[in-house]
Amino acid sequence: MVIEPVLKVGLAGVGSVSRTILHNIQKIPGVKLTAVADIREEPLAQVRGEYGVETFSSVEAMCESPDVDAVWICTPNLFHAEHTIIAAEAGKHVICEKPMAVSLDEAQSMVDAVDRTGVRYVQGHSKIFDPPIRRMREIVSSGELGRLIQLNTWEFKPWISGQPRLETEVDSSKGGGVLYRQGPHQTDVVRGIGGGMVKSLRAIVGRWNSAFPLAEGDYTAFLEFEDGAAATMVFNGYGYFDITELTWGIGEGGQQRDPASVKRERFASAVEADVKHEFAGARAERERVEREQRRTLQPFFGLTIVSCERGDIRQSPEGLYVYDRDGRREVEVAPEGHGRGELTELRNALREDRPTFPDARWGMATLEVILAILRSSRERREVTLSHQVPCPY
Ligand SMILES: NC(=O)c1ccc[n+]([C@@H]2O[C@H](COP(=O)([O-])OP(=O)(O)OC[C@H]3O[C@@H](n4cnc5c(N)ncnc54)[C@H](O)[C@@H]3O)[C@@H](O)[C@H]2O)c1
Repeated sequence: MVIEPVLKVGLAGVGSVSRTILHNIQKIPGVKLTAVADIREEPLAQVRGEYGVETFSSVEAMCESPDVDAVWICTPNLFHAEHTIIAAEAGKHVICEKPMAVSLDEAQSMVDAVDRTGVRYVQGHSKIFDPPIRRMREIVSSGELGRLIQLNTWEFKPWISGQPRLETEVDSSKGGGVLYRQGPHQTDVVRGIGGGMVKSLRAIVGRWNSAFPLAEGDYTAFLEFEDGAAATMVFNGYGYFDITELTWGIGEGGQQRDPASVKRERFASAVEADVKHEFAGARAERERVEREQRRTLQPFFGLTIVSCERGDIRQSPEGLYVYDRDGRREVEVAPEGHGRGELTELRNALREDRPTFPDARWGMATLEVILAILRSSRERREVTLSHQVPCPY
C-alpha cells in the first residue's frame, strides 16, 4: 500500500475569511493545518488554543518552517503579491485569496515567482470551485446544447454597509470596493462557464453610498468572448433588494434563509479591526450551527442563466435545471464544502504531478477583467483584453 504524504498547510492572516477556512482544513483527507501567521497576537492565541498549531508573528517566519508545505494567503488584498512571492521563494505552494492582487504588475510578479520557483499556485476562493459552476461549464463545453450564445449573471447583496468594513475595504485605491472584493467571483462564474477568453468589455461602475465615497458599490458590465458569446455581469452591493429572493433564499454558502427575515445591519462608516472580527466570528459560528442543523444546499452567487443554441441552464437548489425542447430536467450535482476545493485541487495536483486549476495565469486574467471594468467606466469606452487564458475543460 502506498502511503501518500500529508500536505502541511500554514494560514497567513487569521481574520474574517479564515474563520470559514480553518475548520474545513481539518476535514480534508491528506491535508493538515500546521501553522498560522498574523501580526495580531489575539487570533494567534485563539488558534493555538483551539487547534494546537504553531503560530508566527510574520508570514516570512512561517515560511521558514519545515513543517509548512503550502501557504493559504488570507491577508488583506494589498499584501497578496508580497506574501505570495515570500512563500514561493521559500519553496512553499500557494493558495491565494481573491483578488489575486491589486494591479496587473503585481499579478505578473506573482506569475513570474511561481514560474521561477516551480511551486504550485491555486487561485483561492474562486467560484470555479462551486460544483454547479463546474457542471454548467461541462454541459456548455460538451456541446450537447449547441454553442454558448448568452451568459447573464446578477448579484444583489448588502456588501457595502451590511457588515462592518475596515477602511482598506472601502477604499478602491487600496483594493477595496465591490470590484476588487466581489468582482472576481462574478468574473470567475462568467469566465468559468464561458471558457475563459474574454475579448473586450464595456462597463459602468458606481459609488452611490455617500458614506463610502471611495468604494465602488455597483457595476454593470457587458462582455464579449472571443467566440462571439455575450455576457452581462450586474452587481449591486447597496443591500436594498437581495437576490436570494430569486434563488429560493439560498446564498453564497449554500444556507437557506427567508430573504425577508435577513437583518440588514447598516454601517455608516469604516470600523476598527476588533469590531469587524467580533462580527465575523459571530457570523461564522451562526453559519456553522446552521450547517450542522440543516442540509446545506448548493452555493448560489446570485442568479446566473446560461443560454445555448438549443437550451438554457440555471441552478436549482441541489443541482441544475436544464431547459431544452423536451422541457425542464434536473441534473444533480455533488455538494462540496466551502474551503475544500482549493486544498483538494492542490493536494491532487501534487499527487498527480500536474498543473493546478485555477492557476496564477487564470487569476491574473480575472484581475484583468476587473481592472478593465474600472477603466472602461473611467474612460467611457470599450476595453480590449490581452491576458486571457482558456478554461482547460
Ligand atoms: N471577509 C470575507 O468574507 C472574505 C470572503 C472571501 C475572501 N476574502 C478575502 O480574504 C482576504 C482577507 O479578508 P478578510 O475579510 O478576512 O480580512 P481581515 O481584515 O478580516 O483579516 C485579515 C487578517 O490578516 C492580518 N494581517 C494584516 N496584515 C498582515 C501581515 N502583513 N502579515 C500577516 N497578517 C496580516 C490581519 O491582522 C487580519 O487578521 C482578502 O483578500 C479578502 O478579499 C474575504
